[in-house]
Amino acid sequence: MQKYALIETYGCQQNEADSDKLRGMLLSAGYLPTKERQKADIIIFNTCAVREHAELKVFGNVGALKHLKAKKPSLIIGLCGCMMQQQHRASEILEKHKQVDFILGTHTFPRLLEVINEVQTTGRRVCLIDDSAGEIAEGLPVDRENGIKAYITIMYGCDNFCSYCVVPYVRGRERSRPKEKIIAEAKSLIAEGYKELMLLGQNVNSYGKGLYEDYGFTELLTEIDTLEGEYKISFMTSHPKDAGKKLIDVMAGGRHIARHLHLPVQCGSDKVLSDMNRKYSTAQYLEIVDYARTKMPDVAVSSDIIVGFPTESEKDFEATIDFIKKVRFDALYTFIYSKRKNTPAAEMKPEISKEEKQARIAKLIKTQDEISKEKNQIFVGSEKKVLVYSADENRLTARDDGGRLVHFEGPEELLGKFVTVKVIKAMPHSMLAQLI
Ligand code: 5AD
Ligand code: SF4
Repeated sequence: MQKYALIETYGCQQNEADSDKLRGMLLSAGYLPTKERQKADIIIFNTCAVREHAELKVFGNVGALKHLKAKKPSLIIGLCGCMMQQQHRASEILEKHKQVDFILGTHTFPRLLEVINEVQTTGRRVCLIDDSAGEIAEGLPVDRENGIKAYITIMYGCDNFCSYCVVPYVRGRERSRPKEKIIAEAKSLIAEGYKELMLLGQNVNSYGKGLYEDYGFTELLTEIDTLEGEYKISFMTSHPKDAGKKLIDVMAGGRHIARHLHLPVQCGSDKVLSDMNRKYSTAQYLEIVDYARTKMPDVAVSSDIIVGFPTESEKDFEATIDFIKKVRFDALYTFIYSKRKNTPAAEMKPEISKEEKQARIAKLIKTQDEISKEKNQIFVGSEKKVLVYSADENRLTARDDGGRLVHFEGPEELLGKFVTVKVIKAMPHSMLAQLI
């Protein structure tokens, strides 16, 4: 009888990319993908640990699987990803949620099929977490859910140890994939018809460290950019301390490289930046953004901001508000600080109440929404080349070269095509357009 697999992904693009591999392995073992929990013979949650909210969601959703398992005892339930790489969370799940059959960490997930086999043959629960990030597993089957945008992981892990962040603990030290593997993957994805290649890493600017003497991220970008075809290259994430003028020059001179710089600043106070261990100042950050805008007047600059970091005073927060007014980002992803076990910031005295944090994030969002709307307003009446990512009947969702969201009406056949539209209305988070 045909068996079905469901993978639910929490968190960032890196997790999405890992889920594509988890699904690839299951499909290679004869499963078919499903989105319905009731229909699934195996359910895997690929979890995130970056904020407490993501972890609570996993606990809630795992709890909801209990009755499914009671109705269908052959159902296999597994948990993978960053949250499970933390021993205390894995133990908690094993203890509280007996319906869970296996747990895999961020370094052991390539052993998925072997673990499922063990669960099925022995009937025992398996928890396989390994702290030593060894060789990068190459050649795993990949099932990309999306036929338009393909993730290519170029490096794993992070060595930056920002004081609030759990990632270096759950994803291990930085390690890069050989350039030949990446180029070959890019070539075959273009040949398969993918229109966006998104290069992924916690800090893509560290690409090649420890692997090559004179080949880094800018060289990799340049080499991929020489590949023929109609596609764009995007990348995520850059660290401001490492994103130099060379990166901007390569972007500006690129043929396929998206005019989008996602450069998380985290906050606009130099004191808090230092407490966060970010290793750059607001002045250095501004210098790189100014340089990017001089070289590419059309570049979209987006960022991440954390409010309510333990040492953030009212004055520090106001410095962040002033900073975002000065930079005028095209888009901002805003987060309330979440205390992460074993990180240095967890030891810092929390001075800010929940209400205060809520008030700060609300003010931040309001300020940015006004800026985003004003920035989108500039495009009203002008034409734009966009790539169509999804279609809901004749309502199409697309993005321009800077990653700005554009909605318009058009036929579903335009899915995965680059088209030109005319912008007719601006909102803070998107634009409305007409097909030309
Ligand atoms: N609390 C809140 N936000 C966090 N981020 C990382 N760690 C935390 C934390 N402990 C945010 C940062 C990062 C984004 C992916 O998530 O802004 O850039
Ligand atoms: Fe976390 Fe900082 Fe590494 Fe980003 S650069 S993953 S915020 S430690």
